[in-house]
Amino acid sequence: AKLQAPLLNPNKILNVAHRGASGYAPEHTLVSYELGEDLHGDYIEIDLQMTKDGVLIAMHDEKVDRTTNGTGYVKDMTLAEIKQLDAGSWFNEAYPEQAKAEYVGLKVPTLEEVFQEFGRGARYYIETKAPEVYPGMEEELLRVLTKYKMIGQNAPSSKFLVQSFSQESLLKMHALNPKVPLVQLLSYSGPATITDEQIAEIKEYAIGVGPSFKRIDRAYVEKVRENDLLIHPYTVNTKEDMERLLDWGVTGMFTNYPDLLNEVLKGK
Ligand code: G3P
Ligand code: CA
Repeated sequence: AKLQAPLLNPNKILNVAHRGASGYAPEHTLVSYELGEDLHGDYIEIDLQMTKDGVLIAMHDEKVDRTTNGTGYVKDMTLAEIKQLDAGSWFNEAYPEQAKAEYVGLKVPTLEEVFQEFGRGARYYIETKAPEVYPGMEEELLRVLTKYKMIGQNAPSSKFLVQSFSQESLLKMHALNPKVPLVQLLSYSGPATITDEQIAEIKEYAIGVGPSFKRIDRAYVEKVRENDLLIHPYTVNTKEDMERLLDWGVTGMFTNYPDLLNEVLKGK
C-alpha cells in the first residue's frame, strides 16, 4: 500500500480496506487496519464517531454495543470510558473460525492514534458518521488532519478522502476547505439511477460517488464515469462481484477482503 504514484487517477483501481481488513480481524481496531496494509489495501477506511468530550474515534455504530463489551451511545461517553472497553472479544465470539487470542482486549482507537500509528505512509478514506449528532465534527476532523500534516495537497496526491452519506456534512467540509477531496456516499432502496442534475450537483463539491454495489448496474457506472466522477461501490466481498464491477468500469471499491481484490486485479 506504500504507493508513491497519485492514487486518484481513474486508471488506478482503488482497493479500500473496509473498516480495515474486517473480514479477518475486529473492525476499526489498529490490528484490522494493519492487516489492511499487510494485504495491500490502498486506503484504510475509517468511520468516525465523536465522544462526549469531543474526541473523534474509529467506530461504525453510534452505539458501542455491537463492537465492544459496553453499552450506550458514544456521544454520552467520555474517551476515558470508551478506552475501558474491549473492542476485540465480540469478534472471536461472532466468528469463532477467525478467532485469535490477540484480539481479546483490543482498544477503540482515536483518529489521532490511527495517524500516529500509520502516519503519512498510509492513505485514509474517512467517513463522517451521524454528523447531525455531532456538531463540530467537521471542524475537529480538519483540525486533526492539519495537525498530522495531511492537508494542503492537491486531490490526486492526497493522503486521504472524506466520505459521507450526509451531503450537508460534505458541503460543510467543502466550505471549510475546498482542497479536501470528497466522495458522496449514496443509499438507494431500489435499483439505483442518477440524473444529470444530481451528477452536476455532486460535481460542485465531490470527486466521486459511493453507492451500494447491490443497487447499481452497468448503465449507472458508465453514466457516472462519462461525467468524470470516480465511483467506489461498497462493500464487495466476493471475487465474482469484484469481476463484474470491474467489467462495468468502477474506479475502486470497498472490501473487507483486500487480498481477494488484489488477486482479481492481478488476473486482469
Ligand atoms: O463507507 C462506505 C461504506 O462503508 C458505507 O457503509 O455502513 O459500512 O459505513 P457503512
Ligand atoms: Ca463506512
